[in-house]
Amino acid sequence: MPARAPQLPLGVAEMDEDHARLEAMMEAAALVVESDLAAALAAVQRELAAHFVREETLLAEAGFPALGCHVAQHRRLLELAAEAMATSAARPAELRGFLADVLPGLVAGHIASIDRVSAEFLNGRISGAMFGSLRAAGQGAAS
Ligand SMILES: [Fe+2]
Repeated sequence: MPARAPQLPLGVAEMDEDHARLEAMMEAAALVVESDLAAALAAVQRELAAHFVREETLLAEAGFPALGCHVAQHRRLLELAAEAMATSAARPAELRGFLADVLPGLVAGHIASIDRVSAEFLNGRISGAMFGSLRAAGQGAAS
C-alpha cells in the first residue's frame, strides 16, 4: 500500500500505487543536496522505467487497443529524462528544475491523458469496439 494517494487516482490499484510512489520519489528527489541530484534522477529514471514495464504488461494482457501509442509516450518520457541527465549533469539548478517541475508536469500530463484512457479501458468503461469507431471516424475526417 502506498503511504499516500496519487494526485489523480485512476481506479486501477497497480497504476495508482505506482503513480503515488513515483510522485513521492520525484518530490523527494527535488529536495536532495546538490551533490546527490544526479543519483536522485537516476533512481527516478529506474523507477519510471520499471513502472512503465509493469503498466505496459498490464495493458498488453488486457488487449488495450492503443498500446503502441501508450508505449511511444513512455519511450519519449524516458528519452527526456535521459536527455536531462546528459545535458544537466554540470548544471545542478537545471537538474533540480527538471526534477521539481518539468518531469512531474510531464508525468502528470501523461497520467491525465493516455493513462486515464487506459484505466477506463481496464475498468471496462471504454470497449475495444469504441476504439475501432474512433479510428474509423478519424480516418473519415482525414480523407
Ligand atoms: Fe502510462
